[in-house]
Amino acid sequence: MTRLYGVMGYPIEHSLSPCMHQAAYTALGIDAVYAPFAVDPKQLGKQLKALWDLGVCGLNVTVPLKQAVLKYVDEVDETAQVMGAVNTLVRTKDKVLGYNTDGIGFRKGLESLGWKAKKQEAVVLGAGGAARAVLWELAKVRGIRIVVANRTESKAKSLVRWIKVQNPQVDITVSSLKDLDLEESRLLVNTTTVGMKAKDKSIVSAKALHENLYVYDLVYNRKTELIKQAVKAGCTAGGGETMLVHQGAEAFRLWFKKKPSVAVMQSALESALKKGR
Ligand code: ATR
Repeated sequence: MTRLYGVMGYPIEHSLSPCMHQAAYTALGIDAVYAPFAVDPKQLGKQLKALWDLGVCGLNVTVPLKQAVLKYVDEVDETAQVMGAVNTLVRTKDKVLGYNTDGIGFRKGLESLGWKAKKQEAVVLGAGGAARAVLWELAKVRGIRIVVANRTESKAKSLVRWIKVQNPQVDITVSSLKDLDLEESRLLVNTTTVGMKAKDKSIVSAKALHENLYVYDLVYNRKTELIKQAVKAGCTAGGGETMLVHQGAEAFRLWFKKKPSVAVMQSALESALKKGR
């Protein structure tokens, strides 16, 4: 029987997950369909139950439902628990399990650029939900020194307090965006939403970028100003499409207990992005 999977969010029509997952199923000859579901946050409990009743086997969860869905999950893994957010649901015979694959997606996406986890200084721009997933992963790197810079400094401070509770050993400080000094840094990650719109200017001075820096921008819908400037400055730079692919690949692995072709998923995503640009 054809199995049903999908992604729920609100709105959901622009999601690129369906094309990515469907391509992975086709490549492996898996008899399954992956569909987008617009789920109104106010109706979450009712609509999620309807999806389970329909026979859905697994779901990705996106904005604005990642936190709210926790209420409807029987068990969560450590990352989802710490993050307070779920992006993948697995339906078993009698339970709904919640996972968060954003952090591992970030780490694998960054590694696909050639970045290696080692003792170094890493700067994270932003202090929202995406920054939380990035910090959680980076804080696992032994000897790393993390600097968080955000427009609203109080939010950066609160994020730093949060990660210190999770990982008291981590060397982490806050910097103001204006005084950002990247001379000693080897990694710069943009987790802010700046760059999503064509008119967005980079929040980092182009002069601060240098060739010993990896620049990773979570924005995936376009080549951002930051990425353009980073390439010009000789940095190794990449956008968040690799994170999107790897978080999706991890969800696939949780559902089918095998690895999908990341190359197939990436190629499907790139074609969809080209059409949308
Ligand atoms: P997400 O869950 O994707 O991380 P979010 O929680 O809304 O989204 O966080 C958005 C991030 O982008 C925040 O760090 C935000 O900065 P503030 O905390 O100061 O709001 C940042 N951001 C959004 N627009 C920005 C802008 N024009 N300049 C600088 N930072 C911006």
